[in-house]
Amino acid sequence: MAKKKILIKKEKKIQVDDKERVISGFEKHYVDADKDFHTKHGIISKKDLLKKAGSVVKVKNHEFIILDPVFLDHYKRIKRMAQIITLKDIGAIIANTGITKDSVVLDAGSGSGAIACFLAMLAKKVISYDIDKSSLETTTENIQSLGLRNITVKEGNIYSYTKINEKNIDIFVLDVPDPGKAIKTAQKVLKIGGFLVIYLPNITQVQDFVKELPEELLIEKTIEVIEREWAVDAKRSRPKTKDHGHTAFLTFVRKLK
Ligand SMILES: C[S@@+](CC[C@H](N)C(=O)[O-])C[C@H]1O[C@@H](n2cnc3c(N)ncnc32)[C@H](O)[C@@H]1O
Repeated sequence: MAKKKILIKKEKKIQVDDKERVISGFEKHYVDADKDFHTKHGIISKKDLLKKAGSVVKVKNHEFIILDPVFLDHYKRIKRMAQIITLKDIGAIIANTGITKDSVVLDAGSGSGAIACFLAMLAKKVISYDIDKSSLETTTENIQSLGLRNITVKEGNIYSYTKINEKNIDIFVLDVPDPGKAIKTAQKVLKIGGFLVIYLPNITQVQDFVKELPEELLIEKTIEVIEREWAVDAKRSRPKTKDHGHTAFLTFVRKLK
């Protein structure tokens, strides 16, 4: 992957009478450091882009601060096919399964590989299944672009438990249309005490799933994570007026025996 840099330009405001006016907005760019970058204010040369983190580059009267990207900056640019599991929900999965560097994770379906890639940053190993070839191609592309080496991508139907031969899995994340059909797979692959995590958009689907669970799979909880971003500066301290939309319900299940 070409060397990348992050460019940050802070919001610029002026005082007009007793009102603050934003004359140029906040900008964040993820740029290739091996070629000049064209901003709407002018060009930043590749020589300037290679300056060390924290350096300030001026374009006309606009200042850009140069940063070195971290994993999250690269992750936010991965290729997306289907709906990916959002960061707020990934946070809840990590916290409620207590994933560690020793954890082995099974994931289905891969989709764009978003959750697989994020969890691979923390876990020992991730195995990701999808039934669809193009999803597997996107996942593989994303794994390569993030330089991850501990993910194995497999083609297969996660509902066909006789063909899924993983064992001793610590965490099994299911983001497929009908997770109830993968209960036998969960029973087979999870270690005792391991977690099954179900990601479903509708509460009626959660209810249908729960009805199918056998005794040895204990429902720990079902949650919905609502993230509300606030606008906080010298004049404002209130929730941002954007949609705080529902994504999905997360159900955490534990294998008892
Ligand atoms: C919403 S996407 C998953 C997104 C993924 N969790 C992510 O974070 O990028 C659902 C995926 O499940 C796959 N899928 C559907 N049924 C499946 C099955 N029975 N076995 C394996 N994968 C399946 C689809 O092909 C699709 O790529």
